[in-house]
Amino acid sequence: MKINIRVASPLEVSSDLLAIPIFSPGSGKKQKSGKRKPRLTGAAATLDRALGGIIKRALDSGDLRGQSSERVLLYPDSPKRGARPPRILLLGVGAREDLDLEGIRRYAGAAASESRARKLLRVGLLAPRGRRILETDCAAALSEGALLGAYRFERFKSSGHTGRGKASVSTPRTCTLFFDPQESVERVLVTDLRSRSRAASLAADCQNLARDLSNTPGNALPPAGLSREARKIARETGMTCHVIRGAELERGGFSALLAVGGGSVNAPQLIVLEHRGARAKASKAAPLCLVGKGITFDSGGISIKPSANMADMKHDMSGAATVLGTMRAAALLKLPLHVVGVIAAAENLPSATAYRPGDVVKSRAGKTIEIGNTDAEGRVVLADAIDYAVKRFAPAAMVDLATLTGAAMMAFGPWATAALGNDDDLLRALRDAGDEAGERIWPMPLLREHSEAIKSSVADIRNIGGPQAGVSTAGAFLKEFVGETPWVHLDIAGTAWTAQRSAYHRQGATGVGVRTLLAWMASRVQQKR
Ligand code: BES
Ligand code: ZN
Ligand code: ZN
Repeated sequence: MKINIRVASPLEVSSDLLAIPIFSPGSGKKQKSGKRKPRLTGAAATLDRALGGIIKRALDSGDLRGQSSERVLLYPDSPKRGARPPRILLLGVGAREDLDLEGIRRYAGAAASESRARKLLRVGLLAPRGRRILETDCAAALSEGALLGAYRFERFKSSGHTGRGKASVSTPRTCTLFFDPQESVERVLVTDLRSRSRAASLAADCQNLARDLSNTPGNALPPAGLSREARKIARETGMTCHVIRGAELERGGFSALLAVGGGSVNAPQLIVLEHRGARAKASKAAPLCLVGKGITFDSGGISIKPSANMADMKHDMSGAATVLGTMRAAALLKLPLHVVGVIAAAENLPSATAYRPGDVVKSRAGKTIEIGNTDAEGRVVLADAIDYAVKRFAPAAMVDLATLTGAAMMAFGPWATAALGNDDDLLRALRDAGDEAGERIWPMPLLREHSEAIKSSVADIRNIGGPQAGVSTAGAFLKEFVGETPWVHLDIAGTAWTAQRSAYHRQGATGVGVRTLLAWMASRVQQKR
């Protein structure tokens, strides 16, 4: 889907569906605000007059109060002048003073999703005017929302089978964002709107790539499949990609990764993607490292999981998917940074060659790990990936992303990513980036007691820490391999996929983290200036 920006009346461009934001009258001072009807202003009011007052009549009917998630579809008559949109979609967006970027994303997501469901090719969006929201930020949020909302995962639907399939792949083709010409948008600003929209679209495309990868089932995307995707991205963007596998993993001492992957015929792989932006090319400055858990399917291994919901474990490589999506965006956006993505890819299956509970495994770092439960495999593969990242690249900052614990899901549900680390400034920066991206990050403690809980009687550490504080004991395990590197761990177990659809998410993978990491990296670029 291509996003266009027009500072013009929506009647100047034809679209198959035109979305109009409807603000609720707001909390205001007057008490009877609950009874007040939404009012049209600006471009929406002008448009309504041209269409003979059809929108006002809808509002007067009381069917729509402007609350978010309300929607009404109208079929207007031809206007005296201009192109008639055959469908007008009124979408409630809440009170104007409360509108934020996430509200704008949801608005655009709902419009794009509705258009896709109706197989419409051209969607138009009237940009909502929020208080305190820059139009450039609005253009970015609309672009993100539209692209994320139009997303569907249809790779395995044969065309004709459901009536969907190939034909709908490219719908909508265009999405035009209309900004009000009355609001004195200057020429320079139009180019700003376009460039912000382009960057945001690229980020959203990369988030959709992460969703595609995460949604792809285990049989279609084994560890070697993740490597292939990484190489493809490297070829497309000019990044370097290095994959370590087989004997090279053995020589490199990746015994923990090899142990976890040992139960599957699909051999484990360590994937390294490197982006050197301009200015970062010559300089010897330490890179940023993104480390992703890439368990392409997690059956639990010998400590096998119950069968209910086991299919969800095809998403257990969501951390890796986010790293791949983010690396692609960093390269395409030509971020002037040195960024390295490291992915530990393996499949966790029970078999005659699988690792067992009770085994002691020697990690790449040299620390020995007692396996208390083969289902706590994520931290085991990350141990080797983190050690490699730290020793090979001496990063200025390292962020790992992993669908690591059911405990994170229990603690925060789908509403926040759990975070911990060893550097408060880095954690703060990631939380701020998460807020900007509409992806909430919430801290969890990392205490001496959590490290005590993973002590082992036979090895240096154990890969489980008892039934309590699961997020933190998993974090304490990772901390053993981080050394002095400023580090934040993001447990995306609750946020990487969703059972419920919302304005711009379907059931399935969310691609969480891509936009947060990009916002964080953008803030690092700003700092350098
Ligand atoms: N991939 C799972 C974590 C997970 C579970 C993510 C459910 C999303 C939903 C991870 O490998 C795992 O199984 N963790 C165990 C650890 C336990 C054995 C200490 C868990 O959380 O139950
Ligand atoms: Zn597991
Ligand atoms: Zn897992």
